[in-house]
Amino acid sequence: MSNFLKYKNTRLKALYNVERLKADKLKEILADDLAGLFTHATEICETHNALSYKVDFDGETLFLKSYKPATKLRRSIREHFSPSCFDSFQAAFELEEKEIPTPTALLAVHIPEIKKQILVTDFCQDTTSMDMAMGNDSAFDTVQIGALLAEHLVRFHMAGFYSRHLRSANIIISKAADKLWFIDLDKMGHNWYLPKTSTFTSTVSRAGFEFFFLLSDAAADAWLKQCFTSALEAGLFTKDSEAAFLDAVKKDLYKRRFHTKESLTNPANIRQDD
Ligand SMILES: Nc1ncnc2c1ncn2[C@@H]1O[C@H](COP(=O)(O)OP(=O)(O)OP(=O)(O)O)[C@@H](O)[C@H]1O
Ligand SMILES: [Mg+2]
Repeated sequence: MSNFLKYKNTRLKALYNVERLKADKLKEILADDLAGLFTHATEICETHNALSYKVDFDGETLFLKSYKPATKLRRSIREHFSPSCFDSFQAAFELEEKEIPTPTALLAVHIPEIKKQILVTDFCQDTTSMDMAMGNDSAFDTVQIGALLAEHLVRFHMAGFYSRHLRSANIIISKAADKLWFIDLDKMGHNWYLPKTSTFTSTVSRAGFEFFFLLSDAAADAWLKQCFTSALEAGLFTKDSEAAFLDAVKKDLYKRRFHTKESLTNPANIRQDD
């Protein structure tokens, strides 16, 4: 199981994976503003928060995310520090400890002079995001990957986790459809009490709202039933609570998708089978 340590010098602060980065290697990486890491970097995508890269470094392929400085409003007084990078790094260790799949985190570093934080994790080869995979143009078998997703949402929930950033775009799946990983872990939390069914309802609706309304009615219901069956097997429900679960998740899905309770009373937004 991986373990992490703090590293600090006059110029920067870092958390690093002690099993994957030896102290000498770390000093080498952190020298010269990480320039070495960016030498063989290919940009993957950019959002208002971050720039993500695929990087070849020291014989390995890594994922590197460079967080942009926090906006004026959200800026903390100290050093324009946005905590997402360090939160994601620590959350990856928490997930790994409970055997929930996520790319192994290697390094989180804060560089005050450029007001940036950089997160480095393992790169997962040949993946696509779950929202694309469950979308209607996809070559994936949605029954097969729906079951994989359901099983992992139950594992995530039963281990006590929840996440305000959980959505299908933040779950990646191998093209062989046999593995998935939770990514983008900055708004994750952990409950120390027994997992509640209401938290599972919101975990499922968060994970599903981007693709649920693209599925046929039958496929959408089948996916919710897969979530229920996996949770039933894990001891979260009793058999007769299926209808209540389906109803609660659908209401939550509509709210998330259409941002309003109104949509429930608008016939245009109601599925045929409701
Ligand atoms: N470890 C990884 N291996 C392979 N690809 C990854 C990995 N992590 C992320 N990706 C790819 O990079 C994309 C962006 O990653 P991520 O979701 O962390 O950032 P983001 O959503 O662009 O940023 P943010 O939400 O913080 O603004 C993902 O959609 C996924 O396609
Ligand atoms: Mg994301």
